[in-house]
Amino acid sequence: MKKRVHAVAGTLGLTLITTFFVASVLVEVGGDHDAIASVKTLILYGICVLVPSMAITGGSGRSLMGKRRGPRILGKQKRMIAIAAIGLGVLTPCAILLQRLSAENDFGAAFTTLQAIELAGGAVNIVLMSLNLRDGLLLTGRIRRRRSSTTGVA
Ligand code: HEM
Repeated sequence: MKKRVHAVAGTLGLTLITTFFVASVLVEVGGDHDAIASVKTLILYGICVLVPSMAITGGSGRSLMGKRRGPRILGKQKRMIAIAAIGLGVLTPCAILLQRLSAENDFGAAFTTLQAIELAGGAVNIVLMSLNLRDGLLLTGRIRRRRSSTTGVA
């Protein structure tokens, strides 16, 4: 049960952040200012789901870890610290400011800079969360690591 909660919360977090990223890019490329402002408001609501889901992922991951250690678990733990720091320290403030600026129809240099920072931080978190998902599936044996053809080392 705990494992299921962990996997669902982690996958939900990854799905949400990927959706925010894709929606931001698509609306920047093809949307008008009203559409951008709507997406920025929806992202703020989404963050209200993302933050608890990541807290549940971290808490349940810690509890699943118990006394187990090892490079894969340590890697997940370190990545989670970076994910939380980027999420709370960079992405959330960017999302709040971008929503405010877009609601005031201010799409100047500040908006562009914050948008670039948000996309860069979002891309890093998508990679880190995907690696945590992969390592989780490796830990539970749902997927197997492919053997290297040159060294024969797993
Ligand atoms: C974005 C963050 C994370 C995601 C997306 C994620 C995802 C997953 C997934 C999909 C599984 C496999 C569940 C299954 O096969 O039923 C898993 C297992 C696991 N995760 Fe995470 N995880 C994350 C963070 C963490 C953290 C921070 C820890 C703690 C260090 C952690 C510890 C574990 C452990 C120990 C397992 C194996 C459970 C077992 O073998 O019973 N995870 N994770």
